Amino acid sequence: MKNTLILGTQWGDEGKGKVTHYLARQADVVARYSGGNNAGHTVVIGTETYKLHQIPSGIFFERCDCMMGNGMVVDVRVLLEEIEGLQARGISMERLKISYLAHVIMPYHLVLDGVSEARRGEQSLGTTRRGIGPAYSDKVARNGIRVMDLLDADSLRELITFNLRDKAHALADVALQPDPMVRDYLALGERLRPYIDDTSYLLHQRWKAGKSILFEGAQGALLDVDLGTYPFVTSSNSGPGYAGAGLGISPKAVDCVLGVVKAYTTRVGTGPFPTELEDATGERLRKQGGEFGTTTGRPRRCGWLDLVALEAACRVHGVDALAITKLDVLGGFDPLRVCTAYRHAGKTLERFPLSAKVLAECEPVYEDVPGWSDTISDVRRWNDLPRAAQEYLAFIERRLGIPVELVSWGAEEDRTLVREGAAVGR
Ligand code: IMP
Repeated sequence: MKNTLILGTQWGDEGKGKVTHYLARQADVVARYSGGNNAGHTVVIGTETYKLHQIPSGIFFERCDCMMGNGMVVDVRVLLEEIEGLQARGISMERLKISYLAHVIMPYHLVLDGVSEARRGEQSLGTTRRGIGPAYSDKVARNGIRVMDLLDADSLRELITFNLRDKAHALADVALQPDPMVRDYLALGERLRPYIDDTSYLLHQRWKAGKSILFEGAQGALLDVDLGTYPFVTSSNSGPGYAGAGLGISPKAVDCVLGVVKAYTTRVGTGPFPTELEDATGERLRKQGGEFGTTTGRPRRCGWLDLVALEAACRVHGVDALAITKLDVLGGFDPLRVCTAYRHAGKTLERFPLSAKVLAECEPVYEDVPGWSDTISDVRRWNDLPRAAQEYLAFIERRLGIPVELVSWGAEEDRTLVREGAAVGR
């Protein structure tokens, strides 16, 4: 299989976990390059449901190496719970490797995330409060603590002491003491030691040996800190441009980008969302789609598919093929509405605006397409999908000029179809 990068093309929660898991059976490596436990992937295998936050979705396959790259921020306490939780269910962790260079989310990052959200008041970003922004801020400010520091008592003591002093004002009355924190994190480092490695080197070796690699994106294109709806974004780059930096490998290792698109649109957290439906239709989408966050349990905001936003995501990240997920959720809606342009200040915009302020003022321009009412849960061949569902996919393809090669619905593994002749998975 070509080295494929799985990219969320919307505001996250597109179903990347299911698609990655589906393709991972043919991969030798699944590597994650950004984000932390703000992500949440649900994988259903038979009657078992697994919720992953930091561990790559290839972990369920014996032959698959799973790498957590230097571009991630890792909550080691939560990671160890995730590791031990999976082990208790019989999943081997032997092939999990975490970069020495990944940054660690510390307890003060969690506090600072909450403090910063509270300070913003009405303008809060609706973060997952997992300490992601503060951890990335420290990385860029060169105050970060890396996984390697957990294995070196002197460095760790120095870094924790410095950071607690540096942040004393912002932490105000939250009493965090350096000594117990040093002790705790050294102990966590010891438990993590078997998994810590030079993932850049390991990945490079596998690439040169012709192994197939899946690059597992986290969050989504519209949450990318550079190219998303800033400031209503996460603090890392979700696109393929960051796969090289976040894994310590040449960007040329990525052969193709598979854009995962939910058949409609959802968003958690605040920020502009032109096709949001704050009515009974939105409520019905939320209910039919089970749109509640994997990580925080928050209800997701729901709306129609937005091709203006999708065009930008596919363009800036060079998406080669599309995977459409949760197609079944649209069953029973007729007509279906698809946003193909925006109205702003009396003008029609066909290109996604760069400013979140302008985006918030945009009204969607919809084209209606026929819906379908037949259930698709038993469909096993592409051509057996309801005619209108096939038309819906064709409409997306035509507008974006990118082939839809995979569709999926439901959580179960077998509810995934790859189109005949598709390049994906080869
Ligand atoms: P943070 O990443 O926790 O700082 O949150 C920043 C924004 O990104 C908030 O709107 C979050 O809801 C959103 N976000 C972060 N990770 C995910 C994700 O995996 N899925 C969906 N939204 C996310």
